[in-house]
Amino acid sequence: MTVMTCTSAPSLMPVERGGGLQRRYRALLQGEDAGSRAWLDAQLSRAEGMSDDLPATPAQLTAWSHEHCRQVAQGHAQYLEQRRHGAARRYFDNRAHALWFIQQVAPTKAVDGAWLFSTLKQWRDPRYHGLIRTYLEELGEGDAHLNHVLIYQRLLTRLGCQDPAPMADERYLSGTLQLALGLHGERYLPEVIGYNLGYEQPPLHLLITTYELAELGIDGHYFQLHVTIDNAASGHAQKAIQALQQLSPVRGSDEFYRRVRHGYRLNDLGTDTPSLIASFDLHAELLAALERKRVFGQFMHADHCRLQKRTINQWLAEPGLMPGFLEAMQAQGWIQRGADPAQSRWWRMIEGPSAPMFGVFNAYEKQLWYDWIAAGWQSPTRRVMPGSWESGLAFKPLPAPRPGQAIDTLIERMAGNRHALPEGLLATQAYLRATGLAQEIPH
Ligand SMILES: [Fe+2]
Ligand SMILES: [Fe+2]
Repeated sequence: MTVMTCTSAPSLMPVERGGGLQRRYRALLQGEDAGSRAWLDAQLSRAEGMSDDLPATPAQLTAWSHEHCRQVAQGHAQYLEQRRHGAARRYFDNRAHALWFIQQVAPTKAVDGAWLFSTLKQWRDPRYHGLIRTYLEELGEGDAHLNHVLIYQRLLTRLGCQDPAPMADERYLSGTLQLALGLHGERYLPEVIGYNLGYEQPPLHLLITTYELAELGIDGHYFQLHVTIDNAASGHAQKAIQALQQLSPVRGSDEFYRRVRHGYRLNDLGTDTPSLIASFDLHAELLAALERKRVFGQFMHADHCRLQKRTINQWLAEPGLMPGFLEAMQAQGWIQRGADPAQSRWWRMIEGPSAPMFGVFNAYEKQLWYDWIAAGWQSPTRRVMPGSWESGLAFKPLPAPRPGQAIDTLIERMAGNRHALPEGLLATQAYLRATGLAQEIPH
């Protein structure tokens, strides 16, 4: 996670239009190169024109990181103080807003750690051990319960958000950068180190997100986990600085650090997290969801279903009628906004196993309806303590991998997010044994 402020942040463009990022992301996930070196170079030249908050020399990085930590802690204390005095949530107006955010960042979370992939090959060189350990921890050391990609996937599934949501192509930018850095890491070592340095400093928005998700009854274990694992004292943030200091060459260290900076700035391409969260529009999201559903529903209703002189099929027959449809539902008394949704006839038609329209809307779409109808009406929400679900899982060791697997074959199975598949988890465990890099447990 990045911390820097950037005075000349490029606008959303010149990110490729027309799903180009998503296509590149998917190709990289499948192990295809997809012209990603030239693409990465183009992103790095965008980064060249940006500014950053890194200190002048690598020797100052530890102090810089501690100062960042202090500022985040201070910001967090202020936030908590405001909340204690009755301030509203800073990020999420309602649960639909939070579910939207969780889906928007899913392409990034689905490749958590990917930028470090190329370091796996350097297991013989102790200067790489900090980066390799970071990568292995992202992978949960091959334990399905601890693998970050799987933790996020389970969160999406529990929330009923497992189907890929439609989203702007730009949402694939971070994930594509991470996969490209992972694939070409040997040529771009300083840039990988710089990117890692930015990504692994725990930011204030992570703390606020964790707090507000719990408040909305959403298990924020994934986010809470990153508050602890990325910490600047001994966690990923500290390992990031150590790696830079160990791997910087004696000759050409200025040039190395210059490239580190460019990699660091890649974290700032695209929209920052607080701005992304603030861009949510409940009404527009509900309309977009209805517009998508309209196509499937337009011949499904009997003609005696009428709303203000039009049959439901007529309402659904052409694009652009959904704002009027929402108005009509209110005028006809199907929806009472600003009250408990359970009082609205419409809500009772779509929610619950015996509802006449059961299954028409998925969990996220129902949450959009709920929050749009409630329109600020407060239901008593259940606070979920982060980790309450995940930590309840019993540790279950996986079967031993086949002996004699060459390390390169194992590494191949740990690329992209293949490490989150059963075979990848086994490969990760075998890699730990074969390289002697398994972490000893205190005993
Ligand atoms: Fe992670
Ligand atoms: Fe991390």
